[in-house]
Formats: sequence, structure tokens, C-alpha cells
Amino acid sequence: MAFAVPSKGILQSEALKKSSGLLLIHLPSSISTRKSLSGNSNKVFVCMQDSIPQIYIYETSAYPGEHEHLKGLREATAKKYGNLSEMAIPVDEGRFLSMLMKIMNPKRTLEIGVFTGYSLLSTALALPNDSQITAIDMDREAYEVGLPFIQKAGMDNKIKFIQADAISVLNEMLNNDMQPEFDFAFVDADKANYKHYHEQLLKLVKIGGMIAYDNTLWYGSVAKEEDEVPEQMRAIRTVIMEFNKLISSDPRLEISQVSIGDGVTLCKRLH
Ligand SMILES: C[S@@+](CC[C@H](N)C(=O)[O-])C[C@H]1O[C@@H](n2cnc3c(N)ncnc32)[C@H](O)[C@@H]1O
Repeated sequence: MAFAVPSKGILQSEALKKSSGLLLIHLPSSISTRKSLSGNSNKVFVCMQDSIPQIYIYETSAYPGEHEHLKGLREATAKKYGNLSEMAIPVDEGRFLSMLMKIMNPKRTLEIGVFTGYSLLSTALALPNDSQITAIDMDREAYEVGLPFIQKAGMDNKIKFIQADAISVLNEMLNNDMQPEFDFAFVDADKANYKHYHEQLLKLVKIGGMIAYDNTLWYGSVAKEEDEVPEQMRAIRTVIMEFNKLISSDPRLEISQVSIGDGVTLCKRLH
């Protein structure tokens, strides 16, 4: 049976709902944790059956204390995009990126795949005042949904948004002989291009710098047999599996696969 995959090709919840190995959890309005979990009665959590503790994490350390403008941005995203708002990184991953920025203290960062800006604002809030984020997305309309919250948080001066195809922007940087000047890059755009971004970024991120790739577990499907995975998830599953193999054997990197959100792989550039 075929399920519609939204045009951006990321949302998989219709497929997940039909998949026997995965579970969509709608938190009932009666449970006491609902307000602190999401502040949004129709928030949908996508969890692997074996990762129910995810709810515990949301309840105890992800939603409580979420920055007011991140919360506003998240709610405005859900209002405008409905289930498509799943494209944004989840709140616990936002916290993880924020902590990573505070440890790294980078001055120049890059984000590929902004959508409405949840990951962007999460990192911007954690960066020093004199830092700059170059944020690239083809979709300016989505960015403008989050922009008022970025402005209210006083973070717009740290961000240079470029509305364009990211491959072309990075090519242009390389054609202009840009030296490796980024300390950190977060990649959360078209999965089929990850291997191309990788080669470009290894010339643009400094030695010792970090590249973080999102969705490297692809809803857990990478660890399943192909026939256990809904048909419309298989193409990206294959792309991600090949990408994971590529980076795990790349001698230019030290990597760590982090099982948060939909999987984030941290790649430190060694040389
Ligand atoms: C999963 S969303 C990013 C979510 C975002 N990181 C967040 O936390 O809200 C992927 C985004 O990548 C963008 N995108 C896809 N292919 C792209 C490309 N070739 N160049 C630039 N942006 C692209 C889409 O427009 C979409 O907004």
C-alpha cells in the first residue's frame, strides 16, 4: 500500500503509523505531564517501541525550561505546518546542540537545512555574541515563520540567512577560494546530497572542527531488514546506510553516532 510522502520528503509519520515495528504515541490529554511535555494538546511523539523512555526524557529534561522563544517558534511551526513540523529537530536534540555549542564555543558555524529555525535558534542562543551562523535553505517562507521569534530572542544579528540551494552556495564558497573557516556545521537537508555536502564541508570546516549530520538513524530503519521498513522509507534508508558506511571508514574523521532525535552523527575533522 502506498502512503503519501509530503513534498519535502522528510515526514514519515503516515508510514510509521502503518509500520508494525514503530509506534506513534499521542499523549492523552488526561495525563498530568502533558502540559510540561509539550504545552500543546495535539503534540505527536514518534517513538521506537523500544525507546519509550523518550517520554521520560521529554518530561524531565527537554520541555521544562525550554527557552520561551524556542517554544513560541515550535508552536508557530506546528500551527502553520501541522504534522510537517516533525521536520524540526525535537526539543531534546535542540538541548544537545545547545550544550555542544557551549562546550565548543565556535565563532563561525554553518547550518544546511533551516526550515523554521528550531535548530538554528537553539544553536544561536548558545553561541557567543561575536559569532556568526551562515544558514542556508531554499525555503524562505518557512524561515520567516520562525524569524519573529529569532528577532525577539535578539539572535538575528548572529545569523546570515541565504535562500538558495546549499550545494551551489558551498560550491561558490569553494570557487571563491574560501579557506576552511567554519568551526561547526549542522547538516539537516536533503539526505541524498549528504555525501556531496561531506566532501564540500571537509574543505570548509577547520581541522579540529565538527560536522553534525542529522537523521542518521532514519527512524531506526537503518537497523532493520529492508522488508520490515515501509516501502516509501526505503530509498532514504539506503542513502543513509551508505552515508553511515562512508563516514565510518573515512580516515579524515573521528565520529560518534549519537542516538538522540532521529540520530545525529558527530564528525570531527582530523586532517
Ligand atoms: C528537516 S528540514 C530542517 C529542519 C531544521 N533543521 C529544524 O530544526 O527546524 C530540511 C530543510 O532542508 C531544506 N532543503 C532541502 N534540500 C535543500 C537544498 N538542496 N538546499 C538548501 N536547503 C534544502 C528544506 O527546504 C527544509 O526546510
